Parts: sequence; C-alpha cells; structure tokens
Amino acid sequence: MNQTFYKEIIEGLSKPQKTLSSKYFYDDAGDKIFQEIMQMEEYYLPKCELEILNQQTEKIVNSFGYDSFDIVGLGAGDGSKTKHFLKRISDLNKKVVYYPLDISADVLETNKKNITEHIPSIEMYPIAGDYFETLDRLVHDNPKIILFLGSTIGNYDNESAELFMKKIYDMMDERDILMVSFDLKKNPHKVLAAYNDANGITKRFNMNLLKRINRELNGNFDLEKFDHYPYYDPISGTTYSYIFSTIRQTVTIGDKEINFKANEMIHTEISQKYSLKTIENFKNNIGFKSVEHFLDEGKNYAISLFKK
Ligand code: AVJ
Repeated sequence: MNQTFYKEIIEGLSKPQKTLSSKYFYDDAGDKIFQEIMQMEEYYLPKCELEILNQQTEKIVNSFGYDSFDIVGLGAGDGSKTKHFLKRISDLNKKVVYYPLDISADVLETNKKNITEHIPSIEMYPIAGDYFETLDRLVHDNPKIILFLGSTIGNYDNESAELFMKKIYDMMDERDILMVSFDLKKNPHKVLAAYNDANGITKRFNMNLLKRINRELNGNFDLEKFDHYPYYDPISGTTYSYIFSTIRQTVTIGDKEINFKANEMIHTEISQKYSLKTIENFKNNIGFKSVEHFLDEGKNYAISLFKK
C-alpha cells in the first residue's frame, strides 16, 4: 500500500470541508478516462491548443528568436500532443534537442517511441523524476524553451500557479523562455459543459478516484451512493468539481471510518480560467521582462511566452 496516498486521502477526508486531490485521478483507468474526455465534443481545450500550435508555430518560433535551442517539456506525458509542434519546428530547419520530463518512466518510453516514429532525426533525452530537480541538473549551452502545456496550470489556484512559475523563473537563465497554456474566461455555459458532459464521462473520471481508493487502500465506497457536481464561477474564473454523498453513510478505508452527512461535498478539483490581465499580473509579480500571447481564432485559449 502506498503510504503517502493513504495519508493524504485520510487527511483530506478528515477535514471539516472534505477534499481529495485531483493529482490522484491519474491511475491507469483514470488515464484512459482522461483520453475519453479529450475526445469529447464539449471538451474544447485540446482542440484550441492544437489549433494554435498548428497555425501559429512559425510565429511562435520566430518569437523565440533562436535557430538552435532545447525544448524542455514539463509533464511531457506520451508526447502525442508535442510531436506535431516538434515536427513543425524541425521542418523550419531549427536545430532542436528535446528533453521530455515526467514523473513516470513508463510514459516516457511511449513518448520516445511516439516522437522518434514521427521525427526520426530528432535528438531527444527523456528524463524521469521531479521537474524541479531535473530542471536544476539540466546545464546546456543552448537556450531552453520550457513547455508547460495542456492547461495543466489550471489545476492550481492563482497563488500556487504564481509560486510554481516563480520557481521555474528562478531556474531560468536570461535566454530561456517559459511557454505556458491557459484556458481563458469565456461564455460560462461553454465552460461548465466541458466539465459536465451529457454522457457522464467527467463524472466517471471523478468517481474513478473512489474506485481507486477501494482497490488500493481497501475502501468500501459504494459508487451508487455518491454523485458528481461541477460548477463554474464566471467572476473568479474557477471551475469547481465535487463528489457528494447522496445519503448519510459511513465508509471505511482500511481501519478508518469516515462519516458522511446527506449531501456532504468532497472537493476534488479546480480548473482555473484566466483573463489576459491575470496572466500579465503573473508576469509582473514574478518579474518576467515580457509576455506574449498566441490565441486561437475564437479567443478561447492562450499560449503565452514569458521572457526573463
Ligand atoms: C488536465 C487539468 C487540463 O482541468 O481541464 C478535465 C483535467 N478535469 N476534466 C482540466 C480535467 C476534468 C484538465 N486538465
């Protein structure tokens, strides 16, 4: 049994406002459901990111201002999203070395296979482990473009997002560039629908965490007695996801008993939506010299380049 997982789950469920961290969504089953989410009609995020990378890579690379550079992918995953971007860059005759960084060595194997199949000539060095430790060790002669794509930053509240970027800033030299994607504030119906799909895939994604606790921590959540509730606050730009207990009940996890009142909420995830003003505030507060935004046609989504 994974002790950190157990400890964090029990801690979260023992708070007056119960929480479960979205970072635990991604076991094998969770990864698969997330793939389904990315294919959903309502889930516009990957389509927007791809549109920007498909149509504006040349502009973006021109803005880098280098003919030779390293690309460091934070949380690079299986590389399926980055491979087109890298291919375009190499087609522009830029000399690029790719460092995909991820916690999972397994996923990096797939990444290497995916990327080299797509771009046989690429020079790449996958590195498994903690981003910051790895970033710290990467000394190289080339300028680094540090990618944090997939709107992953949205799982942090604004304060943590700023701290995260500040930590990267501190590890960058003057030539390095941080490239982050942000999902923008937009029609609130469209945002909510992305987290409240008609087919219940997002519900399954959230509830999978209860299944995972049952399996890995010897829990006895009855999924029939819980439901999923997402909501979006268009003023703050925060989407909140909750799981709630539909009845009063007691659940056991190992030898711990957790009591639920009827309709008691467990907070599971936030997905933050941004204004360009908020992104510029990050730039100012952290101390970046400039930020430049690349938006999709519908202005739903931004890829922003922060220069030191
Ligand atoms: C992987 C953080 C970008 O918040 O949109 C999708 C995760 N959660 N549907 C997001 C997610 C519910 C996703 N990110």
